[in-house]
Amino acid sequence: MVKIILKDSPYSIKNGNILGIKQMTESEKLFEIALEGCQRLDHEPGQFVMVSVSGAGEIPISVSSSPTNNGSFEICVRAAGKVTNALHKLEAGDMIGIRGPFGKGFPIRMLEGNDLLIIACGLGIVPLRSLIRYVFDKREDFGKVHILYGCRSPCNMLFLDEIKDWKMQKDVYFECIVDQATPDWTGKVGLITTLISGVRIDPERTFTALVGPPAMYKPAIQELLSRNVPKRHILVSLERHMKCGVGKCGHCQIQNIYCCQDGPVFNYEEIKHLKEAF
Ligand SMILES: Cc1cc2nc3c(=O)[nH]c(=O)nc-3n(C[C@H](O)[C@H](O)[C@H](O)COP(=O)(O)OP(=O)(O)OC[C@H]3O[C@@H](n4cnc5c(N)ncnc54)[C@H](O)[C@@H]3O)c2cc1C
Ligand code: FES
Repeated sequence: MVKIILKDSPYSIKNGNILGIKQMTESEKLFEIALEGCQRLDHEPGQFVMVSVSGAGEIPISVSSSPTNNGSFEICVRAAGKVTNALHKLEAGDMIGIRGPFGKGFPIRMLEGNDLLIIACGLGIVPLRSLIRYVFDKREDFGKVHILYGCRSPCNMLFLDEIKDWKMQKDVYFECIVDQATPDWTGKVGLITTLISGVRIDPERTFTALVGPPAMYKPAIQELLSRNVPKRHILVSLERHMKCGVGKCGHCQIQNIYCCQDGPVFNYEEIKHLKEAF
């Protein structure tokens, strides 16, 4: 049987050339990728791509660079299993497969003109970095920006060089916290929720973007609701196991929603009834 995949089909794979690789921590690497033929990825912050490595398989990975980047884009990948380990063994000049971008990202038009409270835990900083860099490139379009970043320990912190620049931006308030301090750590230790309770925001004009491990969502959302942030101002990314990325296989389904297609970014009003999500 001959399998035909049309060029514009969501299943068609584009060739991605790895332009550069940066070791970020012991387990995470940042890959800069250019699509063959100088094609633009044209993504929104919060969207993901399906990345395939020859002989290993295909996985969903968030785009970590801003759409305002010209030409190439970036992904940050933790070595977690078969495909991610295979990706970590590649070198600059190697090719990977790219499908997408897929899903719904952060509703940029809705965020414009408002203050932002960006809350990242662990790898959640990866898709949020796309939003943060977009906001900094379009600084006049947004109000105050609070960034709260929680990590297991200081050695797990990603984008350390950039964070220095983020802190220098006008009307930007950055705070981080770790679960376990190292002897040289002078910052805060504890849960991200303790940072949320201390942040000064006007709830009616603040949109919150929250990405992290599932266990963090419930306490963080409770804290935001107790601060009177409206449910539709709370944006979360639900990352479930995914295969097709386009609403066909059902792997990412929770009740009536497909995280790959209806999300991964949702506002809390839309999904508050999904007990399985939190
Ligand atoms: C929308 C989306 C965006 C993502 N963005 C990133 C990203 O930017 N960077 C990154 O490093 N990872 C990201 N992930 C997670 C990444 O897709 C998984 O780590 C990857 O699929 C693991 O594949 P593997 O073959 O290396 O490991 P496997 O051998 O398949 O699995 C290794 C371990 O990872 C777990 N795992 C697999 N898929 C997921 C998942 N979706 N969520 C949680 N645990 C999972 C497995 O249960 C297993 O314990 C994202 C996932 C989704 C759904
Ligand atoms: S990944 Fe196949 S339906 Fe969502």
